[in-house]
Amino acid sequence: MSQSFLKSTDFTRDEAAALFHLTAELKARRGKGHIEPLNGQTWAMLFHKSSTRTRISFEVGVHELGGHPMILDPNSLQLGRGESVEDTARVMSRYLHGIIIRTYEQALLDQFDHAGSIPVVNALTNELHPCQIYTDAFSLIERWSEPGKADLASLAGRQICFVGDCASNMAHSWILASALFGIQLHLTGPKAYQPLPFVADLLKDAGLEPTWSFSDDAKAAVEGSDMVYTDVWVSMGDEDEKEQRLRDFMPYQVNKALMSVAKPDAYFMHCLPAHEGEEVTAEVLKDPRSIIFDQAENRLHTQKAILAGLADPSLLR
Ligand code: CP
Ligand code: NVA
Repeated sequence: MSQSFLKSTDFTRDEAAALFHLTAELKARRGKGHIEPLNGQTWAMLFHKSSTRTRISFEVGVHELGGHPMILDPNSLQLGRGESVEDTARVMSRYLHGIIIRTYEQALLDQFDHAGSIPVVNALTNELHPCQIYTDAFSLIERWSEPGKADLASLAGRQICFVGDCASNMAHSWILASALFGIQLHLTGPKAYQPLPFVADLLKDAGLEPTWSFSDDAKAAVEGSDMVYTDVWVSMGDEDEKEQRLRDFMPYQVNKALMSVAKPDAYFMHCLPAHEGEEVTAEVLKDPRSIIFDQAENRLHTQKAILAGLADPSLLR
């Protein structure tokens, strides 16, 4: 098993299937007994970008698994004064049992992982957001499986549409997860914002066939979908392009008219934070088919399973 969780394909399909069973168990047993694979351990959290859900759910999750979450202030580390990522990783590996990092470049995580000897968890980079996608997959699995089962096979052959910035961390992560989980993924957005080539390399490295297509015709892409997903048009780090992006993406707003061409029982999902009136209307956010707050809750349960699986790989066999 991979030492770290840096991208959706770092778990095999079988490991992911076990991870979703463990997620369901942790969710059902929350507050009713102890599963503490991090007992006696210290996991650090280093966040170079803002966060509400990821930051809080990981701190709570480490605590509930019996570990100590150590919040690192990026401004007070020698890393911020020029100490190398590699030396930082070597030193931290002497103290910590794992580290959860949100940062700009995916390359920083790769460098840390290669130089260090502890699990690294990707809490979002410019390129990828795998913890979010595993949570989103679990949120669908718990709805599409037989009651009491969290069956990964329930995703097979489903049609999912991602609307908006198809060159974003969320779109890339959906491309990887869809190939791993057997989902048909339709991406739609302006032609200038298509997936970056690195994602094809990651699929190849994992031995997976692509299961995605791109169209700039939003209605055609959403038609017949089992789930419609969107994300902000201006991701963290893209603020300088805000005005241009708001203009470019306006035809791709998820509103009642666009949702009406999906299947009648299609879910609406959003990783949050949402910008009401931009990528999605208030009406869609509040629609009974919107499962955004269950998604947000499931960050906690899914990430606990990810941490537990990295700390004790036998839990994913
Ligand atoms: N969805 C998500 O990652 O939210 P935060 O930026 O609040 O962590
Ligand atoms: N694409 C967004 C996701 C936020 C959770 C961003 O990177 O800002």
